[in-house]
Amino acid sequence: MKTVGIVLAGGSGTRLYPMSAAMSKQLQPVYDKPMIYYPLAALMLAEIRDILIISTPHDLPHFERLLGDGAQWGISLKYAVQPRPGGLAEAFLVGRDFIGNRQVCLILGDNIFYGKLDFLRHAIVANTGGYIFGYHVQDPERYGVVEFDADRNVIGIEEKPISPKSNYAIPGLYVFTPDVVQIAETLAPGARGELEITDVQKAYLAQQRLRVELLGRGIAWLDTGTPESLFEASSFIHAIEKRQGMKIACLEEIALTRQFLSKDEYLESISRLPNSPYKKYCTAVYDEFTAHSISAQQQNIAR
Ligand code: DAU
Repeated sequence: MKTVGIVLAGGSGTRLYPMSAAMSKQLQPVYDKPMIYYPLAALMLAEIRDILIISTPHDLPHFERLLGDGAQWGISLKYAVQPRPGGLAEAFLVGRDFIGNRQVCLILGDNIFYGKLDFLRHAIVANTGGYIFGYHVQDPERYGVVEFDADRNVIGIEEKPISPKSNYAIPGLYVFTPDVVQIAETLAPGARGELEITDVQKAYLAQQRLRVELLGRGIAWLDTGTPESLFEASSFIHAIEKRQGMKIACLEEIALTRQFLSKDEYLESISRLPNSPYKKYCTAVYDEFTAHSISAQQQNIAR
């Protein structure tokens, strides 16, 4: 089944005030890129190329100006407005026509994942209802939390429980079959007055169609909701990029290495970037990529 992506990038971001007063949270820099680049990269690395960006009426035009139609990365980006922050599950109602009869991967615009992201591609293939992840954290009460029985079967899901039944939080990355739209239609607002994503998960759990995969410590799931966690996320990205001399979530690079763009299309795409360290990096990526593919061809001929 074809899988499409939704990046939910609305909300008020009040915990980042005054940074968020004029500019949406998901447009804030995480070291050297706007925050939304990171969830977009996660979708692209999972080969998802049809993506809907949902945001507020005020912020959506800024996302459109930043990201365009996606052709520069060999993907298709569409945009839709969520008039008020009615909850994460409202994404499936706003995105109803976009989803149609396709499987959907929802990622929150402020969730950053780093590490070997194969788990998402695997989830897309294996899903038969809802596929979510569990991530061990110190402060599960801030998130949706998974409850297990003694045999590690999932028996419950709770949104921000006062007394969490495990340390496994549910990151903002979810895969659902197309019937998620019908499930979202039946939901009533929860205690926060919002359509809760955890209620969607509970519906699949009740139908025995929910898989929860626990992510190990090889994956970093970073929070960006407060000035402190945003700063820490920037430091994390900075430390790795500086050590490796490679960028995390450079969308041009992903488009080239995943072959969403041909080499010529890539050159054309980066020729439009303003002169900047980012453009310089994209040029170096091309040189290295072509050097590798030429030497791989030569090795094949030699064999
Ligand atoms: O980060 C993972 C957590 O995200 C999950 O563990 C929880 O189950 C889930 O409910 C959610 O919890 P949060 O309390 O962090 O959700 P928050 O209201 O902060 O919204 C998450 C992001 O989604 C935020 O960047 C704003 C955006 N958003 C939120 C709402 C409620 C929207 O775009 N529209 C909305 O209506």
